[in-house]
Amino acid sequence: MTINKEIEFNNIINDILKNEKFIELKYEIHHGISRLDHSLNVARLTYLTCKKLNVKNYEDITRAALLHDFFKKEEIEKNSFINHPLKAAENSKKNFEVSKMQENIIAAHMFPVTKVFPKYVGSWIVSISDKVVAVKECAKYKVPLTIGAAFLFCMNMFFIQR
Ligand SMILES: [Fe+2]
Ligand SMILES: [Fe+2]
Repeated sequence: MTINKEIEFNNIINDILKNEKFIELKYEIHHGISRLDHSLNVARLTYLTCKKLNVKNYEDITRAALLHDFFKKEEIEKNSFINHPLKAAENSKKNFEVSKMQENIIAAHMFPVTKVFPKYVGSWIVSISDKVVAVKECAKYKVPLTIGAAFLFCMNMFFIQR
């Protein structure tokens, strides 16, 4: 990322990174790294994709990308794989100003695993960025890329059929 983009990216998400609740994601494990780092990876890829595609709401979309996994494991009783997007949306609304679009971005990011449909361009960008980042993170932690991709594909197919 160029320095100018790095500065803009930081300005967009700065206040979220100062939030006490959000900082706790540093201690949650996600794909072998902290959930905070995973969220930053997804926000960064989302920001760069929006810039490349000239998406006008890129600031709101980048913020929603950072918030997409804003939950703690202990907050979800069962099936965290399916239920965490709604919890993340709820936590985001409690701690930040969240628009209808941002709420959909967060709640729909696990589509098609979850039933919430991605209604906006930003929802699709974040959902795809999350999957790309997840596969890369798994690959980094010794899960080969193809197995990671195959795993995500199988999980999606499994849930689509239900
Ligand atoms: Fe997620
Ligand atoms: Fe994620």
